[in-house]
Amino acid sequence: MTRELIMDESIMDGLTSGIDPDTASADVDLAAFARNLHRIRDHVGVPIMVVVKAEAYGHGMINCARVAREAGAEWLGAATPTEALRVRAAGDQGPLLCWLYGPDEDLEAPVAADIDVAAHHADQLSQLVAAAGAVQRTARVHLKIDTGLSRNGASYADWETLCALAAEAEETGAIRVAGIWSHFASADEPGDPSIARQQKVFADALAVAERHGLRPDVRHLANSAAAITLPEARYDLVRMGIASYGIEPAPGLARDAGLELEPVMTLRARLAAVKRIAKGDGVSYGHTWIADRDTVLGLVPLGYGDGIPVHASNSAEVLVGGRTVPIRGRVCMDQFMIDLGPGASAQVGDEVVVFGPGPGPTAQDWALACGTIGYEIVTRIGVRVPRNYRRGGA
Ligand SMILES: Cc1ncc(COP(=O)(O)O)c(C=O)c1O
Repeated sequence: MTRELIMDESIMDGLTSGIDPDTASADVDLAAFARNLHRIRDHVGVPIMVVVKAEAYGHGMINCARVAREAGAEWLGAATPTEALRVRAAGDQGPLLCWLYGPDEDLEAPVAADIDVAAHHADQLSQLVAAAGAVQRTARVHLKIDTGLSRNGASYADWETLCALAAEAEETGAIRVAGIWSHFASADEPGDPSIARQQKVFADALAVAERHGLRPDVRHLANSAAAITLPEARYDLVRMGIASYGIEPAPGLARDAGLELEPVMTLRARLAAVKRIAKGDGVSYGHTWIADRDTVLGLVPLGYGDGIPVHASNSAEVLVGGRTVPIRGRVCMDQFMIDLGPGASAQVGDEVVVFGPGPGPTAQDWALACGTIGYEIVTRIGVRVPRNYRRGGA
């Protein structure tokens, strides 16, 4: 099986990686990403928005955006207008939504670039009306109702007024209400009572909007977990983030629903040092681990400066030479130590899989070891780590 390897050492504008890709890299399997999207599309049966915010959850926004379109993603989703403009600058022309911005941000550029923008309250609607006037375009707006997450979105008490204002602005041609949407709090916990409550509020909010004459092209509520488990929450579009990258929204959730996902990112490195230590020796800052026997340590050249959580100290594991071995001592800024075991024959330069699709630890395993979520494990992998993009192959 031959694979084409594309090196991309600068995943973010103006920032470049700072590690030789031979020494450590995050390998991003774009073919696996595309396969996930095809399977997701088959599973949900409605158009999908692939969420590429935060550098596509650490995988690299521009390459993931391109492959998502090739795989048939009808929509892309970014958090910020700046991210969305970068997607446009890379040549993307399809439906694209962004939803998080401050009161003084320039919305003229996204409106002029045909980027759909969310509005959560009346001031944002005014910001968008002004931007539309300035660039002589109709702003495509997605009105957000807060159905119970208590994060962004109009609360139900303010929804009627927001709909009325939006209907007025639509009449003038300044905006078009292209979408109405919301976001779940606990869709990754199937059966949680908040899910049904939020669905009810969303349905009520849609009825209010309709009474005000709003006819959105797309109504969208579901993130990965809801899209996978709740057919009635799919509406016209589902917003797929974590599942696209092959990570379960919660352990086993997709698999139990009959959806097979392949982790897209493999974080790997080569051992930079191997050394023998004696029973009683302390390891790394603070000596938080004391060897209970003579053993062999390996040095992995990645640290919290690269997004390796300090919480992985003495808890997470990695794969070396087909064996799973533990991190010992505190994770440092640039490196961490692993216990290769007494008599280990590992050599400097041996390959270490920090996490990947398996065999060996996955991002989900790391999340459990660090008391966090798989989302954070991949998203926090920093710019210093070069991304190797793989396409082709099986
Ligand atoms: C508004 C919104 N929609 C959709 C998503 C995608 O969620 P998930 O990664 O769980 O699919 C996110 C991500 O946090 C989000 O903030």
